[in-house]
Amino acid sequence: MYLIKSNGYDVEIGIKIFKSISSLITKKKYSSHFIICDENTFQFCLPNLISNCPKLREAHIIELESGEASKSLEFSAHVWQTLIENKADKNSLVVNLGGGVVSDLGGFCASTYKRGIDFINIPTTLLSMADASVGGKTGIDFSGLKNSIGTFTQPKGVFIDPDFLETLPSRHFQNGLAEIFKIALICDKKFWNELKTADVKVAAKDIIAKGVALKNKIVSKDPFDNGIRKTLNFGHTIGHAIESMLLGSSNELLHGEAIVIGMLIESHLSYQKKLFSKNELDEVLNVFKNVFQPNKINDLNLDSIFELMKNDKKSTNNKFQFALIDKIGSCKFDLAVSDLQIKKAIEFYNTSF
Ligand SMILES: NC(=O)c1ccc[n+]([C@@H]2O[C@H](COP(=O)([O-])OP(=O)(O)OC[C@H]3O[C@@H](n4cnc5c(N)ncnc54)[C@H](O)[C@@H]3O)[C@@H](O)[C@H]2O)c1
Repeated sequence: MYLIKSNGYDVEIGIKIFKSISSLITKKKYSSHFIICDENTFQFCLPNLISNCPKLREAHIIELESGEASKSLEFSAHVWQTLIENKADKNSLVVNLGGGVVSDLGGFCASTYKRGIDFINIPTTLLSMADASVGGKTGIDFSGLKNSIGTFTQPKGVFIDPDFLETLPSRHFQNGLAEIFKIALICDKKFWNELKTADVKVAAKDIIAKGVALKNKIVSKDPFDNGIRKTLNFGHTIGHAIESMLLGSSNELLHGEAIVIGMLIESHLSYQKKLFSKNELDEVLNVFKNVFQPNKINDLNLDSIFELMKNDKKSTNNKFQFALIDKIGSCKFDLAVSDLQIKKAIEFYNTSF
């Protein structure tokens, strides 16, 4: 069992999470409970949660359609409406049982309903266990832009049972692994070296715990994204633009898949800015080719990428600010990059496959 102290709440990882969830619920004497899930976590995770936490047997279930499209204003309205119809009050609890889509949307709805009610995260994907459920960012996509509306609100607790991963499709497992490699790249070379050779499925619990501890260290120092937390955006400025560009197309990518491409392109920016040697660039490229098998993207439309990047919340005054690694295990932020450098980095990506 791992216990990580975060900003006013605990992250628990292990087999005893159901006991901890039950004692939190007993202690807080919530007036009502609402479990948000999608059809997959309804099927694969909810029975386990309810049978182990008797207090949740009477909970109202709000089931969403799985997938990024649910992180929308429309589904937020559905959640708020259900809370209102079932008389949720300031002392109600929202339980987010699912991946990053459920915790982002559920956290957003809870943090805005009646100016904020308690919520807890029970992440069920690798990405949400190691990343999305921790750190207090909630949000939805709006007007074609990822995470453009949201809040910083900390959950009352995060409870991680790696056994939930048993039913997770392998594409989604790889998706989560991308964020774990990212955290290693930006702040822990030893962890990066371990990950390169680890049997990640066997070591999942330890890897999640290490990933959460590293992310937690960063977000605890900078809860509102004003400084060091920006290093977590490594790979995301370009990655988000690619993810948004392909949203709804036949080449649609999962978040982590887009971030892998973003990390490779942004590693080349580090190389162009002489922060990063050719050897290090080759190492990242080879490890990612081996672990993630990313593909060349044929329709990487530069104009769309620039347009999407301008709208990204990470750009200020229309200038592109990047978090870039300056060696494996270390990252700098607020670095200006020119359009030409971005074009060259994208070319590097497309000619590497
Ligand atoms: N708030 C943050 O700090 C943060 C950080 C990173 C990513 N995110 C967000 O997270 C989202 C992506 O999260 P995700 O990758 O978890 O996607 P997701 O929530 O869509 O889950 C992926 C798929 O796995 C299914 N699933 C979930 N748990 C399962 C289980 N145990 N067994 C079988 N199927 C299961 C879901 O139904 C879904 O189809 C993106 O919207 C991204 O923006 C947020």
